[in-house]
Amino acid sequence: MPITPFREKTILLGVSGSIAAYKAADLASKLAQGGARVHAILTKAATQFISPLTFQSVSGQPAYTDADLWGAQAHVLHIGLAQDADLFIIAPATANTLAKLAHGFADDLLALTALALEHGDDASPLLIAPAMDAGMYSHPSTQANIATLRARGAQFVGPETGHLASGLTARGRMSEPATILGRARRLLARGGPLSGRHVVVTAGPTQEPLDPVRYLTNRSSGRQGYALAQAALDSGAEVTLISGPTTLAPPEGARLLSVRSADEMSAAVLEHAPAADVLLMAAAVADFRPAQTANQKIKKTGQAFTLELTATPDILNTLKRQAKRPRVTVGFAAETQDLLTNARAKLEAKGLDLIVANNVSAADAGFAVATNRVAILHRDGQIEELPLMSKAEVATEIIKRIIAMLENPT
Ligand code: C5P
Repeated sequence: MPITPFREKTILLGVSGSIAAYKAADLASKLAQGGARVHAILTKAATQFISPLTFQSVSGQPAYTDADLWGAQAHVLHIGLAQDADLFIIAPATANTLAKLAHGFADDLLALTALALEHGDDASPLLIAPAMDAGMYSHPSTQANIATLRARGAQFVGPETGHLASGLTARGRMSEPATILGRARRLLARGGPLSGRHVVVTAGPTQEPLDPVRYLTNRSSGRQGYALAQAALDSGAEVTLISGPTTLAPPEGARLLSVRSADEMSAAVLEHAPAADVLLMAAAVADFRPAQTANQKIKKTGQAFTLELTATPDILNTLKRQAKRPRVTVGFAAETQDLLTNARAKLEAKGLDLIVANNVSAADAGFAVATNRVAILHRDGQIEELPLMSKAEVATEIIKRIIAMLENPT
């Protein structure tokens, strides 16, 4: 089963007449790059802003307009489009389109197809990204239409507060394609193999303060941990991401808990992991911190300065001694020598089910690069050495093994 949620999915993209329609082309392109078949339906007003050819070009699939309402296959087109859809995204959705959808109008191909979409519990989800001027958005008619659609199970993303075509800064701006993609990903992951499971992921470095302006840290970027959080979300899990300072955007749908020091990370993990099904401890937690944190900036004296360090508590070791623990605990071993021997020793000492070992001295793997080459060591002695792959692919491989462990407990 592909965990990449857009692969082989058929996504209907309804585009109505707002200037935000130009961003829908980017959305279509990203969905297509993710492996989806994207069928765009443009309203007449949308074609004033953007051409069907744009969608055809980025998706490699036909894009439809009201002209297709009267073609040779017209009597079945809307039914076929609706039946094939795994997800119907309407972005941008204007006030007019929302009104049509809320009241069951079927006077253009977009509204007609939305009406032909199955409804009920097993129906393909409908994700709506409104875009309009702030006054139109807050108008009681629009709000009532949104409430009606929500009550029927439609999901909404945005609108956001920001610059509007009117020149105002207010609520009405369509969510960015990345946000819409994140929500779409979440909807397609519903019912996935980790649905109903809670996965806690730690990621990134920690910062150990020396004084108010200085800290000790490491080169971890958080990328592998964030990729794991995304892969768990893509399998339908509820994800808590406990992250040290990084520059990354958290995946849509993850509950982000931001921490700084090893002590803060320890407190967050011990609070959230025991009741979770899975803990993925990908963070590069500092092993040492300054023995004292000065209240004021330490002054330079022109002399040498000796820094005393003290060991931080090992979070996995602390968790191992708790009565309540996650069903599956995965650790990471970043090593520069004796990779497998050191990783095996850590797996045993920390009571792990799996340990993911990587040689962080390689230029193309480990810290702060997009790729990784890992070995996965199992509790029963099995070792799997994976080839160089992207961190997203490594995450998918790890999640696949976790799904297998949860399904076949030993
Ligand atoms: O012993 P080492 O730090 O190499 O072990 C790495 C594994 O232990 C990682 O999964 C890391 O997140 C975790 N760790 C921890 N608490 C620490 C240091 C590391 O749980 N203080």
